[in-house]
Amino acid sequence: MTVPSLASSLSDTVSAAATSLGLADFVAQVRRSEHADFQADGVLAAARTLRRRPRDIAAEVVEALRADDLVAEVAGPGFVNLDLTDRTLLTQLAGRLADPRLGVGTPETGVTTVVDYSQPNIAKEMHVGHLRSTIIGDALVRILEHLGGTVVRRNHIGDWGTQFGMLIQYQNEQPAAAGGDDASMSRLAALYRQARARFDTDPQFAVRARQRVVALQGGDPDTVAAWQDIVAESTRYFTEIYDRLGVRLTAADAVGESAYNDALPGVAADLAAQAVAVPSDGALCVFFDQVRGPDGAPSPLIVRKRDGGFGYAATDLAALRQRVGELHADRLLYVVDARQSLHFTMVFDTARRAGWLPPQVSAVHVAFGTVLGPDGRPFKTRAGDTVRLVDLLTEAVDRAREVVAAKNPDLTGAALHERARQVGIGAVKYADLATSRTRDYTYDPQRMLALTGNTGVYLQYAHARIRSLLARAGNPAVTVDPTTTLEPAERALILDLDGFADTLTEVLTHYEPHRLCGYLYRLAQTFTTFYEHCPVLRAPDPIRANRLALCHLTGETLHTGLSLLGIPAPTHL
Ligand code: ARG
Repeated sequence: MTVPSLASSLSDTVSAAATSLGLADFVAQVRRSEHADFQADGVLAAARTLRRRPRDIAAEVVEALRADDLVAEVAGPGFVNLDLTDRTLLTQLAGRLADPRLGVGTPETGVTTVVDYSQPNIAKEMHVGHLRSTIIGDALVRILEHLGGTVVRRNHIGDWGTQFGMLIQYQNEQPAAAGGDDASMSRLAALYRQARARFDTDPQFAVRARQRVVALQGGDPDTVAAWQDIVAESTRYFTEIYDRLGVRLTAADAVGESAYNDALPGVAADLAAQAVAVPSDGALCVFFDQVRGPDGAPSPLIVRKRDGGFGYAATDLAALRQRVGELHADRLLYVVDARQSLHFTMVFDTARRAGWLPPQVSAVHVAFGTVLGPDGRPFKTRAGDTVRLVDLLTEAVDRAREVVAAKNPDLTGAALHERARQVGIGAVKYADLATSRTRDYTYDPQRMLALTGNTGVYLQYAHARIRSLLARAGNPAVTVDPTTTLEPAERALILDLDGFADTLTEVLTHYEPHRLCGYLYRLAQTFTTFYEHCPVLRAPDPIRANRLALCHLTGETLHTGLSLLGIPAPTHL
């Protein structure tokens, strides 16, 4: 049985009191307060509708709320402050401890969400943008699943386009320059650069490359085989990175752009038949009232190009139609760079007009900001190249090894390496998830591995310290005596712990994992204050047992919270 949070029970109580007073439209919004355990808003809004004095209404609500376990008081212009007894808080703590789900319900039951994330491009290095998408997407997938949802992961890999003609042609003509049999991602990326340079400078090569595109599209066996090798090589490389990151993406989740090729002519035909798309200058386009280019001219979504080819937009439309029509998605999430927001606005709008995206299905561009380098500009190497993700992860783990070794001089070999991996990867993920996703953020390996402040390492240490404290107590069975008197620091901790489930719901309101990070960070701080003010092991029973129960629930909450962010929480650090 999932125990409702105190905030939600109180909302019900206040709403019931308001209803008993005949305040029909009263929406009780109960939240934590600085001046009391909670405060209920809603009086001010009700007063406006009823044209009455807010404090009069608040006084009536307070009167109706009179109960033994609740102290209600009018505050400010018309708030209702609510204080709970120690017994209520301890009873809630006991209920929460008995619930392995930590009070988290399954509100996503029966809801299917398709999450489009990671989306690297074949024959190109993964960069920090793909890292953000992968990490944010992974956290959202975990949270949706934890709340009972059905999630379909879609890694919309860029595996199609005219660049493959150029790449395969170059490889055929220059097997030596291409590195012969040496299959590796760095070889492919180098090959890609060389092929592009040749394409831009040698018109004859460009012609042959274009013929190669036609051969690929026409299904020429040798060309298709070469393309498949390139895709397989890149995919192996991406999988390695996913394994290193510990994200849930698997090969089965990779449905690349090419998977939609056969559906593209149908997409264009349907849009044309419905007159959603119209011929324009030889191309097939969708126009929008709101969307205009810099010169004020309408800026269309191109479904089919003048040369008859299909591009990125048509593919996304085909994917969307399949996700709703065949996968029966109730919700579509696209975890993609904010710079693509116009693209998604146009794709969603087109799909709505075509009837492929019915009103009850939501489609959200979960946009994220740019990762900046130390100079405050988009993160690049000194030479201006994209920073390779592998190098970044290796650096983070190396630095983490120093941090971990300094704390644990006895740790060596494989154990040290594993710990460094958990801390280093955790730090990278946490730094990314902790800033509001729409903001740009500066990649700073030094800061992300700081032992204090809002970092993954800080939370991992907080968790490990609690585990070792419990181990020192002999990991006793958890019991709560509801009759003890609570210190303010204990009350604060119980109240913070109780907000876990509501925090997860809040994360899903706007798909913002940073709310969970902020919650866990505050929880760790509240725990530290508690630990400084309230001796645990030296306290007499039943206070000792109650405090151990608090430690236990804090440890569990940190562990579950971090794991929902995709961050390991080892017992020892
Ligand atoms: N592969 C693209 C890129 O690297 C991102 C794809 C985003 N997903 C989508 N369904 N359009 O920029």
